[in-house]
This record gives sequence, C-alpha cells and structure tokens, in this order.
Amino acid sequence: MKRKKIVAGNWKMNLSYPESETLTKGILAEVSQWTNDQCEVMLFPPALYVTSVAHQCVSVPHVYVGGQNMHTQTQGAYTGEISAMMLASIGADAVLVGHSERRMLFHETNDFLAQKVNAALQHNLTPVYCIGETLTERESEKTFHVLEQQLQEGLYHLSETQLANTIIAYEPVWAIGTGKTATPEQAQEVHAFIRKSIQKQYQNADLAQNIILLYGGSVKPDNAEALFNQPDIDGGLIGGASLKAEDFMALVRAACQIAQKG
Ligand code: PGA
Repeated sequence: MKRKKIVAGNWKMNLSYPESETLTKGILAEVSQWTNDQCEVMLFPPALYVTSVAHQCVSVPHVYVGGQNMHTQTQGAYTGEISAMMLASIGADAVLVGHSERRMLFHETNDFLAQKVNAALQHNLTPVYCIGETLTERESEKTFHVLEQQLQEGLYHLSETQLANTIIAYEPVWAIGTGKTATPEQAQEVHAFIRKSIQKQYQNADLAQNIILLYGGSVKPDNAEALFNQPDIDGGLIGGASLKAEDFMALVRAACQIAQKG
C-alpha cells in the first residue's frame, strides 16, 4: 500500500482571530487544487479558533482540523483545560500530543502523554504524537535511545489497530523554530529507525510500513521537497511556515506533487 502525504500546520500561540480567519481563507482558496486521497492537509489552530476553522473546513475534502493540546480527562474540575470529548464535539479530527514545547515548558512526561493518546483515540481523534531529541542528546549519541523511550512509554501500549490510527511526528528539538533543519539524510535515518522500532515491537511489517511519519523542524518552501522526497518521510508538521498562506501552500504543493508522481 502506498502511504499518503500529509502537510500539517501548527499555528502555536500565534495570530489574532481576524488573522486566523484570513489565513484559513487563504489556504482554502487554493488547497482543493492540490489535495486528494494521496495528499492531505491538517490545521492545528489555537484552541479558541478550532471551532471556527473546523466549521470552515467541514465540507472541504482532505482538510482536517485539530487541537494543539488537550487534557487526559474527559471533563471535570480542570480549570483552563479542554478535553478530547470537547474537540470531538465541535467537529475536530485530530490533536497534537507531546509537542516538544509541551514536554519542555509544561513538563509533560511520556506516561502522561500515553494517557492523552488514549483519550484522543477513545473520542475518535487522530493523535499526532510528537517525539524528538535535544541537541545535547544528539551530540552525546543518545538520539535513538531517547526516541525509543518516547515510543515505548507513550505509544507501545496501544493495540495494532490503535497504532495504525495514530500519526507520529519526528521533530528534533534543535531544529524547531531555529532555522536549523535536519538534513534530509538525518531525518530519513530517524524515520527508518522509527519504522524498524515499530516492526520489532509489534512483529508486524505492514503496520510499520503503513504508519504515517511526519518530519517537523524548520521546514520551509526551499527545503521541503528534499525532505518530503525521502522514502520514509510522509510529509511535515510545520510551525513558522504555516502562518502565511503563501508559504504553507508552497509546502502543500511540494508534497502533493511528490504524491502525484508516486
Ligand atoms: P517550526 O516548528 O516549523 O517553526 O520549526 C515546527 C513545530 O514545532 O511543529
């Protein structure tokens, strides 16, 4: 089975509401020219805007909308939080889990993130589980060890079917928002490692081959094609370059043209 490409925009804590509306309109004006079954788009606006963006995208095929974060619990006394149930109830399709900013700034652990992955799946949201090493970890040759632990503790409790409904995003922490991108070879090496790890854990080659793996970290219009062309990279999770319709659409075009070539 051929894997599809996905370009996902993580707007983080950026944009006023009117700016987010302009960005959504800019993307929707062009996106359907490029997307199809083999090439899809995901948008992760700030929580306040998810409802509006989800409503605008509801009848647009191949464009999915999600939250950047959510709590492990369904409802209750958790002031300030939102839940998977709430995201699902406004028509969201997905949720980012364990972005490195959540891990580092908000001290989210693999165990806690495993609960979020469960909550997302329970409410039929696709979890996009983020993993990645810091510069210190890479320089001390701990990259694969760190990634394996993030996979073991955050994901490998899932059944095969649940894992098949999950997306993994590899985002080296040293490449996020820094302008330093992993080279296509570095990113490819890690993506191949992730498939090998899944195959070893589940003893299931199809599962490892079919799961969608995104790369994230300073993906820009000028480096996207080389990254998206790697055999084990299925697209990108984009921060900075997802905030301008023109840049984001350049990435969508790059991914969809590669998908079309097969
Ligand atoms: P960046 O962010 O593209 O700005 O590096 C990527 C991310 O954090 O998802």
